Amino acid sequence: MASSAPRVPHHVAIVMDGNGRWATRRFLPRIAGHKQGVESLRRCVKACAERGVGVLTVFAFSSENWNRPVEEVSGLMELMVGALAREVPKLSSDGVRLHFVGERAGLSPKMVKGLLDAEAATAHNTRLVLNVCFNYGGRWDIAQAAARLAAQGEAITELSLDRAMALAHVPDPDLFIRTGGEQRLSNFLLWQSAYAELFFSDKLWPEFDEAALDEAIAAFQGRERRFGQTSAQISSTAAA
Ligand code: IPE
Ligand code: IPE
Ligand code: MG
Repeated sequence: MASSAPRVPHHVAIVMDGNGRWATRRFLPRIAGHKQGVESLRRCVKACAERGVGVLTVFAFSSENWNRPVEEVSGLMELMVGALAREVPKLSSDGVRLHFVGERAGLSPKMVKGLLDAEAATAHNTRLVLNVCFNYGGRWDIAQAAARLAAQGEAITELSLDRAMALAHVPDPDLFIRTGGEQRLSNFLLWQSAYAELFFSDKLWPEFDEAALDEAIAAFQGRERRFGQTSAQISSTAAA
């Protein structure tokens, strides 16, 4: 017989895209879409925890998003500071451990304090690790890891780079979801997604609900992960 119960992905990564279009379709300002995006994230965190996902990594603000209009950038920064103040106690009581991943330079001191406080306040939690990638880019991550190793005089190998990367505290993502209909990575987790299963949803992020998450997980469960091996090798290991 093949493998037993279909496994839930241990680590799910999500490019939460489509907030702006969600708002524009409703004749609302784009920031209203980002606010709705926070609601959607709250729902998704709960749903992931209930399904036994161990790690959820979300893309909240990319290195490239600084190129947006200043009002949108400042709106996103305010939203983040507000969300930290509001959401952390509940996340913590739900057993969520927060990590903020990305470049701290360029963020306001108030924001950095908020991120550090949220990490400290949730450090003891074990139910779900939530990595929020903020001012993050996959190329930044690879470059900062290499620069750190070089500064320490360490050899650059796959293993040493992996350990210097911003997500070294968790295993690589199993399932990479992008909402909003675009089929690109947009500089998210370039190194870590080498063997992630990709799932593209046409749903805009504010509409991404439990059923949409279940659809992505079901698609994942239907994939055969071969990691370079043949299908025959995989089925003989599963049968053993
Ligand atoms: C993703 O939604 C959120 C961020 C990039 C902060 P967008 O704002 O990119 O939404 P669309 O793609 O314009 O609809
Ligand atoms: C990726 O979405 C970044 C986040 C979701 C935070 P973008 O909307 O910025 O990506 P592009 O510009 O369409 O590639
Ligand atoms: Mg977008």
